[in-house]
Amino acid sequence: MSQQQVSPAKQLIGSIELAPDKSIAQRAAIFSLLHEGTSTIENFSPAQDPQSTLSCVAKLGAKVDIDQSIVRIEGVGRDGIKAEINELDCGNSGTAMRLLSGVLVGAGIPVTLIGDPSLSSRTMTRIIKPLEQMGAHILARNSAYAPLFITREDPLVPMDFRLPIPSAQLKSCILLAGLFGEEPTRVIESIPSRDHTERLLQLPVSELHGERIIEASRHLKIPAQNYRIPGDYSAAAFWLVAGSIVPNSEIQLPHVGLNPTRTASLKILQEMGANISIETHSESFAEPVGTLTVTSSALKAFDIPVEWIPNAIDELPILAVAMAFAEGTSHIRGAEELRHKETDRIMAIAQLLQAIGAHFRELPDGLEIIGNPNLEFESATFESYHDHRIAMASAVASLRGSKSSFIHDAEAAAVSYPDFWTHLGALSAN
Ligand code: S3P
Repeated sequence: MSQQQVSPAKQLIGSIELAPDKSIAQRAAIFSLLHEGTSTIENFSPAQDPQSTLSCVAKLGAKVDIDQSIVRIEGVGRDGIKAEINELDCGNSGTAMRLLSGVLVGAGIPVTLIGDPSLSSRTMTRIIKPLEQMGAHILARNSAYAPLFITREDPLVPMDFRLPIPSAQLKSCILLAGLFGEEPTRVIESIPSRDHTERLLQLPVSELHGERIIEASRHLKIPAQNYRIPGDYSAAAFWLVAGSIVPNSEIQLPHVGLNPTRTASLKILQEMGANISIETHSESFAEPVGTLTVTSSALKAFDIPVEWIPNAIDELPILAVAMAFAEGTSHIRGAEELRHKETDRIMAIAQLLQAIGAHFRELPDGLEIIGNPNLEFESATFESYHDHRIAMASAVASLRGSKSSFIHDAEAAAVSYPDFWTHLGALSAN
């Protein structure tokens, strides 16, 4: 278990090639398995979560050929999936476990999905119940946790499913199972969650009374996944905040994914007074991409509208750091989902804020943060709780200390962003 030392930064200057988008990379791998034929994915992510998904896909029959960051996948199509071994390891990845569960139920292949201690402590009830309604039989530890033993002997039952929580993992899981049904499965969402699955699979989407209805069935062709994966907006967010709160900074982030269902934190930071310029590129595939440039600025408090939370869900830890250095009192509410991430992120953010001496109140569904642009601390010691986003948010907070700070279990960053520490060093070098 590594401890990372982070020195204070006088300024952050440079251009960063971000880690490839984790959500898109994992979908690219799974959808390539479902496509019958070759997919060529450029800029595939070396991070642990996408690599876990890729190795699961290979064990379900796809031929995977890796040439540096280019991954070629010979997909077997919906009817060619077979389990070469009966246990698949999803590592730390909730996306892998939830999306693959949908595929396995659809394909009717009996497999056990396992994960690391963090993933094995996250509830899977949200997928187990609807998948059972679709005909699956799922044996889970305490009826809720991995290992998940998944079978389906009865015919697949397509269904109309109204999302009880705005979760893209749950939405994708049900749609993936639905792709195997003769009749359509429809997922209805009232609060939009990230829409990479719909875009990359080109699923029919309609709108009725302000709700989105996404449809999947066996009759839809699964397209080849031929594209270059953009930089991960969720990785960019760490630098957007770092570049804002460290004086005299300018950070450029080329080729970053700017899917609007992911970038609510961009709006939030701009509302807080962050100086971020956005140059959008022409769309070369289903996802919008652009270049972001951030320069330092004074930040002011902001109350995040509850309906923006799902589109900022992964950025809330780093937004909390921005709020700690902003003028005034900010609120993050309606974010109870954070308690079910890689760790209880509301608790972990509270510990992070405590470590830098920020004023805050932990709430059942979020935090109240009493910001201070002149917040001063010497040296802090942080726990990552083995959570990549907490490790990286702690690193950004450390930049404002007057002496070096320390982050326990900092290697967790590699789950989504293996080069994070190298990039931090490069930006601080000037
Ligand atoms: C993800 C969806 C989100 C997000 C996670 C990745 C995805 O989870 O927090 O990091 O790739 O679909 P939920 O859909 O459960 O909110």
